[in-house]
Amino acid sequence: MSVPQEFVAVLDFGSQYAQLIARRIREHEVYAEILPHTTPAAQLRGGRAPIGIVLTGGPASVYAEGAPRCDPEILRLGVPVLAICYGMQLACLLLGGDVRPAAGREFGRTRARVLDAADLLEGVPAETTVWMSHGDAVDRVGADFRPLAATDNCPLAAVRHRSAPVYGVQFHPEVTHTVEGGRIFRNFLYRICRARGEWRTASLIERAVAGIREQVKDAGVVCGLSGGVDSAVTALLGHRAVGERLASIFVDNGLLRVGEREAVEKTFREALGLRLRTVDAAERFLEALRGVTDPEEKRTRIGHLFVDVFAEEARGIPGARFLAQGTLYPDVIESVSAHGGPTARIKTHHNVGGLPAALPFGLVEPLRDLFKDEVRRMGTALGLPEDLVWRHPFPGPGLAVRVLGEVTRERLATVRAADAIVREEIRRAGLERHVAQAFAVLLPVASVGVMGDGRTYEAAVAVRAVTTDDFMTADWARLPAEVLATISSRIINEVRGVNRVVYDVSTKPPSTIEWE
Ligand code: XMP
Repeated sequence: MSVPQEFVAVLDFGSQYAQLIARRIREHEVYAEILPHTTPAAQLRGGRAPIGIVLTGGPASVYAEGAPRCDPEILRLGVPVLAICYGMQLACLLLGGDVRPAAGREFGRTRARVLDAADLLEGVPAETTVWMSHGDAVDRVGADFRPLAATDNCPLAAVRHRSAPVYGVQFHPEVTHTVEGGRIFRNFLYRICRARGEWRTASLIERAVAGIREQVKDAGVVCGLSGGVDSAVTALLGHRAVGERLASIFVDNGLLRVGEREAVEKTFREALGLRLRTVDAAERFLEALRGVTDPEEKRTRIGHLFVDVFAEEARGIPGARFLAQGTLYPDVIESVSAHGGPTARIKTHHNVGGLPAALPFGLVEPLRDLFKDEVRRMGTALGLPEDLVWRHPFPGPGLAVRVLGEVTRERLATVRAADAIVREEIRRAGLERHVAQAFAVLLPVASVGVMGDGRTYEAAVAVRAVTTDDFMTADWARLPAEVLATISSRIINEVRGVNRVVYDVSTKPPSTIEWE
């Protein structure tokens, strides 16, 4: 695969945000590559030298035994370094500073004052909001460093070395809550690293297509379509890479939303002209989920059965040895520890962690390093219809993870009906593009209500609507009260067996977007 000349090396110390950093850099049209923190300085010199190096955050404390360190020579290469959070603490330590547990731990939004608006913080207002997430902080930096910004708890929120082009920020410029994060990356890339900016969406497409060709050679590929933008882009990339050797299959697992199967068939057959086979496997999925209440168990069973169904279907396709999936980066990071970093496992997304080891296919995952908005841009560039590009994401395990407790045909019908109302009212209010996801969750509790003159004892439905750019962090959507009122009264009136509707006002983290 061709590697672009101009790139930034992101040295990963086990941050949840390493890929987010890479994507922020790509957003500014510079290619970024994530490398292990153990990468020797020699590798970053000479022919494939990066124009800049980012040291990520990480869960360790720099003084803890076995805390990951980088080759100290990296800081003396003369290549500009942006060291974030743990990375900053490490860089300061390696260059003679003093790191210790901060007087107050800082998590979340914090006000920062800019002390020096030269290069890195150029154009950043004197007071700005940054996102902090640390226990330790740099205490003293010695005469070699200059403070650039401070917060109430952290007098060294941003620093720069006086002679080497080494910058440190204690906050996280890569998350959207750091209001000026984009500008800080832009300053780093264009003012400090002198980037030319040659990386475009077209490069992502070319790279993905070349990657698929190289991986599958002359074998056939089966693509699992879910109806969402991720699998649609995967199918189109696959089609571009191997043409008619790509066969698309849509599994109706019975866990879909209202009208979903029909919409998928119409779009892919009629609008995009792909060869598409629909498999009706609803009964088998329901059977596999019978009596299961544990969320991880649900995901694993669905994942296994999904692969079984695929394997059966694919037998009929000569030469098919690969399965193409639209796994995105956020699915990967929250399931396994990517790049060997010590990232914590949160939940198994079914198209990643739930796959059995003896998978009869090689996996083709061209979107594995990408975020939703990057995939959407690719979709537009590949000619996907806008409504598909902007469709809200829907989890692989479908409504099964929105029916808390046992998944039965009846409970699925309940959540499906409530979900249709939520989405319809969001659309009617013109809010579809303002929320990233909106859905209903059937809770495993009954509560008392009164209908007419009688007492009811029925299920509760939670409504969840979130805003987010990247699905790694999310906020609950401030839906207008009238919209919530309509959703609530329609669900209670129209969906049998529900007498209470609640609105979920939790952010991610610490909650997740889905309830399971
Ligand atoms: P969470 O709940 O982890 O969700 O905050 C983040 C995003 O991922 C979607 N999601 C999934 N997508 N397979 C998928 O393809 C899955 O198993 C899965 N689980 C969650 C979720 O809807 C949200 O957009």
